[in-house]
Amino acid sequence: MRVVLSFICTALLLSPVWCGSPDTDRTRRGNHAEAYDRSLVRTSTFVRTLPPSQRPAYPQTGSVSWGAWLMWQLTKDTVRKCPHESETVDILSFPFASTGERFGVIHTFSPFKNRDLERRRTLALKQPSAALSLWLYLLSWCGQSVCGIVKHVNEHRKYGSPLIMLSDAGNIVLQVQMVDGEEQAFTAHTALPLHTWIRLDFFFQVSKAKLTITKVLPAGQTSESTHFFDFRQPIKFNDTSGYFVMGGCNYMKGFHGYFGPIRYYRLSSEKVKNPLSPVRTLKELDRFHRHCEEMQQVTEQYLEALRQNRDVSTDVCESYYGDLGRKFGRRECTQTWSWDQQRRFNIALRLLEEHQDFITGLESSGGHLQHLSRVIFQNVVKTISKAEESDGGLDLIEQLQVSLCWGHQHSSLLLATLHLAGLGVPVDLEQGHVYSLIGGVSDDRLALMHLGYKHMEGLDGFPKDQNTAYGYYANIGKQTSTDQDKVQDSWQTPTEHVHLNNDDELHTQTGEQGDIVQYLKHQASRGDVESQKSLARMLLWGSNGVEKNIRTAAMWYARSALHMVDPAAMYDYAILILKGTGVKKNRTLGLKLLEKAADMGSVEALNGLGWYYSTIVKNRRKAIRYFELAAQNGSRDGLFNVGLYQLNGASPDKQERNETAAFQLFLRAAQLGHVGGAVEAAALLSTGTVRGVARDQDKAVLLLKRVIEMNGHLGFMVKEALQTYQRGSWDEALVKYAILAETGLSVAQHNAAHLCEVLGHSSACQWRYHNYSTYNHIPQESGLLRMGDYYSKLSDMVKAMHMYSTAVVHGSPQGHFNLAMLIEEGYEVPDIILDQMGISAAHNLNRSVVVENLLSRCREFEEADVTPCSLVLWKIKFIRAWRDFTHSSVQLPLACGMAAIFSLFIIAVLLQTLLAFYSTAYLSTNQSSERRGEPAVDGQGISPQETSTHQQQRDRLTAAHNSLSLPETSDLVVTVTGVCVCVIFTMFISNLL
Ligand SMILES: *[C@@H]1O[C@H](CO)[C@@H](O)[C@H](O)[C@H]1NC(C)=O
Ligand SMILES: *[C@@H]1O[C@H](CO)[C@@H](O)[C@H](O)[C@H]1NC(C)=O
Repeated sequence: MRVVLSFICTALLLSPVWCGSPDTDRTRRGNHAEAYDRSLVRTSTFVRTLPPSQRPAYPQTGSVSWGAWLMWQLTKDTVRKCPHESETVDILSFPFASTGERFGVIHTFSPFKNRDLERRRTLALKQPSAALSLWLYLLSWCGQSVCGIVKHVNEHRKYGSPLIMLSDAGNIVLQVQMVDGEEQAFTAHTALPLHTWIRLDFFFQVSKAKLTITKVLPAGQTSESTHFFDFRQPIKFNDTSGYFVMGGCNYMKGFHGYFGPIRYYRLSSEKVKNPLSPVRTLKELDRFHRHCEEMQQVTEQYLEALRQNRDVSTDVCESYYGDLGRKFGRRECTQTWSWDQQRRFNIALRLLEEHQDFITGLESSGGHLQHLSRVIFQNVVKTISKAEESDGGLDLIEQLQVSLCWGHQHSSLLLATLHLAGLGVPVDLEQGHVYSLIGGVSDDRLALMHLGYKHMEGLDGFPKDQNTAYGYYANIGKQTSTDQDKVQDSWQTPTEHVHLNNDDELHTQTGEQGDIVQYLKHQASRGDVESQKSLARMLLWGSNGVEKNIRTAAMWYARSALHMVDPAAMYDYAILILKGTGVKKNRTLGLKLLEKAADMGSVEALNGLGWYYSTIVKNRRKAIRYFELAAQNGSRDGLFNVGLYQLNGASPDKQERNETAAFQLFLRAAQLGHVGGAVEAAALLSTGTVRGVARDQDKAVLLLKRVIEMNGHLGFMVKEALQTYQRGSWDEALVKYAILAETGLSVAQHNAAHLCEVLGHSSACQWRYHNYSTYNHIPQESGLLRMGDYYSKLSDMVKAMHMYSTAVVHGSPQGHFNLAMLIEEGYEVPDIILDQMGISAAHNLNRSVVVENLLSRCREFEEADVTPCSLVLWKIKFIRAWRDFTHSSVQLPLACGMAAIFSLFIIAVLLQTLLAFYSTAYLSTNQSSERRGEPAVDGQGISPQETSTHQQQRDRLTAAHNSLSLPETSDLVVTVTGVCVCVIFTMFISNLL
């Protein structure tokens, strides 16, 4: 007998080849046939069959194994889904602002999970067939010989295929790596136009490449050109190796402009489909840049006219949109600008005219436009909150646009804030995106933070994308790290987290005139080292509302250090005099102080000595010894410096680079709050090229977010906002805090929400910022509680529970209380809470146990003795005890019995007392009638006197007996009552405990 075993069926069933995107439909069918053919050909064989009775018995294994049963239990309710996998990858779906520096979007590719696709990919390693389509918007050609557009850096840190660059003449340079490892490059002489959306489509097919350039011309039509390259050898195309960068990276700067959507076809090179999207955002970006360009020309002409001392007013014909009546009749128009221009730049011209004295009063031309743009920005901030209702809003928006075009970058963030949050203008997300991208492309710190934050969290229509977020955060992280070295910079202050509803925190910010600073000054002048140090620090950094004054700070540092008792003070002063900040440089003294401080146990001074030997003496061996010593003792600078030596292999004794060790050192430094450490660690995490360190873009972004909030420029804005608040201009402070809140700074979000609330603004404004503050790594407690209340008002209990439970996780007593109340009302208990309390969700748990557990935890966070939590806890315990008590089979009958006996007893005693009382009353009536000498009623011959005496005696006896027994009875009653109450109470208490 000949049995054909066809493995193809099982193979088909097992391999997830047949699930994928519609894009791969065509390829699937092809492979199906191929696979079928191949397998059918060589799998036939002869098998001798046995009747069932002769077949060897398979040993019985008993029951199903525990693991298999568990798997079955876990997965029986889930429907198996094949992972959606496509060979088309949208690398970017939202514009990215490339500043022309060394920062870009890093992307990596992993092998396909789908076996069919993966097989095609491995085949294509030597016979590539791939396509890449990307949109570009150039603001300038490259500043150096070449700038990066898309770069593939392979696992050996070499440029792989493709490497697409922009030259200084606007040409496209394409470099690829051949299969034999050699590199080849071609230039397409295209001279790409500026301020135009351009699409570049690259097609790679074995040894050939094709580039199609499509330009979108202003009128909407497109023009296309094609360039062919023949490399004569197959191109090596291994996209899973290393990483891809869009824009700049460590090795090469990026171009200055925007990326539009980027789409990559990993396996096919026939056709690409990559439309311009989101269309309105991209078109608006273009429109704004062209508008600005023109405005700059108009402004330049105006300034030129001013310089030549012409009467400019004759050049500026008031447009019909302006104040028509003003001066119009008296003016002769010389028409320097067309009517159209005058209409469009009406506001700019008006602002120039208004500030003419200011401009002419200044010397250089470049600086004062910048200065003017800041003045305009500040004016707008002052007036914007009042202009909300009137149509002045639109005018202010235009003023801000002018300010932005003239170079004040904060205007972009304010514009974005107004449009995204809908403050004074209707919400318009796309317009908001445009302004924030404009801020980003001009390298503005706050705008970069804003873009990074929104992409990190996926807010306001910015897609959640950690790769893009990293692109922005890496930039601002680097800037923060360089900003930190510029202590003297008057625009920098450390970020202070002052909540406006916290009086203690506000009290620390009272500045020069406040009692804290006055007290410190007093103590410092009396020679108290601690006060001198604190005062010096405040003056050096401009913290606590104090004006920055480096010279005075250095003076106090000197006084505190020269006591030679405090190593920290000595170290701080040593750094000042070594760098010559605020004092004359004196290296001899600096070194002496550092050595002394190190001897006295300052680890930072050890690092300082390392710095001294590496930068001044240039003795590497000695330097690294000090750095290592500092690092071992937990100095974050020391950790970072040793990390740098490891990363670059710069240590004279150990020449090889050790990135893994460097990464660990950077990470530890970052955890101690070192900005540079976080930047370096994040860079290594985001490329994923370090051995033993998996790529983790989320972690990289989080590391950076924490340190960029230390940026001095951000801190300065926070200080300004606070001072505005302290001056009493709450509306203006709200605008300032709102701008900062958009950058993701949680304290600003808290304060913005608080101000919205106290100023009675629309609730949308409040909820926006409360909501934002809940996204943070360490969320604001008040934000969580507010959002919880908000959701429970909307009856969205799932979200409300989520908010409260997050508050619980962060140790908020109020959160505990609210959550407990909701659970008590019968809502489901979130798993996160169960996990936190160590109760497995699988347990069939009792609701009241959770509530009680929550409330007792809540007690741990509270300070006062009587608190809502403790009261409710008592109430619950009481109710439960009562229930247990009344439900108990022994205690209740017992208690009832006792109560019954007790009541019987009371009744008996009462009756007795009543009887006694009545008899006494009766006796006294008799006595009184007797005394009055009334005749006896009966005429039986017995002497009434006698009878009465007899009766009297008996009655007296009873009365005496009763008057004797009354106190006893009452004692008895009290005792019995006491005992009964005691017993019942004890039974009750035993239940309570
Ligand atoms: C492609 O890259 C991967 C990942 O780095 C590597 O393991 C593989 O060997 C490379 N393939 C070829 C053909 O170079
Ligand atoms: C540096 O300080 C030392 C000790 O205070 C002093 O003797 C020396 O004159 C100073 N040098 C300069 C250049 O000021």
